[in-house]
Amino acid sequence: MFKRLQQKWGVSTKQFWILFLVFGLTGTTTAVLTRYVTAWLGMDTGSYWVWKLFLRLGMLVFGYQVILLFYGALLGQWAFFWKYEKKLLGKLGVWSLESGVNTTDTKLQTPNSLLQTPLNIAIFASGAGSNAGKIIQRLANHSRLKVALIVCNKPGAGVISIADKNNIPVLQIEKERFFRGDAYLPVLQASYHIQFVVLAGFLWKIPEVLVRAYPNRMINIHPALLPKYGGKGMYGMHVHEAVIAAGEKESGITIHYVNEKFDEGAPIFQARCPVEPNDTPETLAHKIHALEHRYFPEVVEETALNPNNRIKEQKK
Ligand code: GAR
Repeated sequence: MFKRLQQKWGVSTKQFWILFLVFGLTGTTTAVLTRYVTAWLGMDTGSYWVWKLFLRLGMLVFGYQVILLFYGALLGQWAFFWKYEKKLLGKLGVWSLESGVNTTDTKLQTPNSLLQTPLNIAIFASGAGSNAGKIIQRLANHSRLKVALIVCNKPGAGVISIADKNNIPVLQIEKERFFRGDAYLPVLQASYHIQFVVLAGFLWKIPEVLVRAYPNRMINIHPALLPKYGGKGMYGMHVHEAVIAAGEKESGITIHYVNEKFDEGAPIFQARCPVEPNDTPETLAHKIHALEHRYFPEVVEETALNPNNRIKEQKK
């Protein structure tokens, strides 16, 4: 039951328990305060029950919400609870859905509107997350870009602790919903307002519904010079083993937009490195990681800010 709730909220385990604590503290405080207010107003067992009911409802509808925000802010969860309150107020018709809580709106913001609000980025990763870490580092305190979510399909993957350390929520995804359900699109768009997606070592194919939702706004990094050594089954060490086995003299990285086919979207950027005769898949992986860490964060930043731009020249 907890796991389901955590997935619905799209938060990391640590954040989930903090949220739980906020709800618990709010419930207890509201109950205690209601008792005090009842006594303060001189109500006792003989008081007319309708007044008591009004008071309790008032405390529940308004007091509870304010206390929830108070504890939420105190425990560093203001963003989550403010979003929760706006959603509630939206349902009651008090808050305009236009102000950002429209749970059915799947349209992305236009580049113009992005100039005023930070653009939310989701990083999808399956493994250690060293690239995710570098991107988070580069965009920390960025005025217009924000890594708002880590999406991970591997419980216990290194990228989850990187997210936790940086206080970034984690959305743990499951195969069934990703491939045969809504692909988590409503969570990405309505709950996290994700406008740009970065695949940094994410090993599942992206469902069409997500590709279509992020045209020119979803990019991937591949550890070889595409179109060579790409496609299904070509990931991580498999790529480096194939490059060495083929006796290639050079390899590199490719950053490209994501389309419906594995590793076939329009290229944005490539960088190269030599493959020496004594290189092993491990030493080559090391060189490739160094290239990725050097260029990927910068290319993410440039492409997120100019979603329709292609970086045609290869950087030196
Ligand atoms: C990176 O080398 C990335 O290019 C590769 O996975 C590694 C993830 O490393 N991606 C693919 O192979 C996708 N086909 P990281 O988890 O340390 O960032």
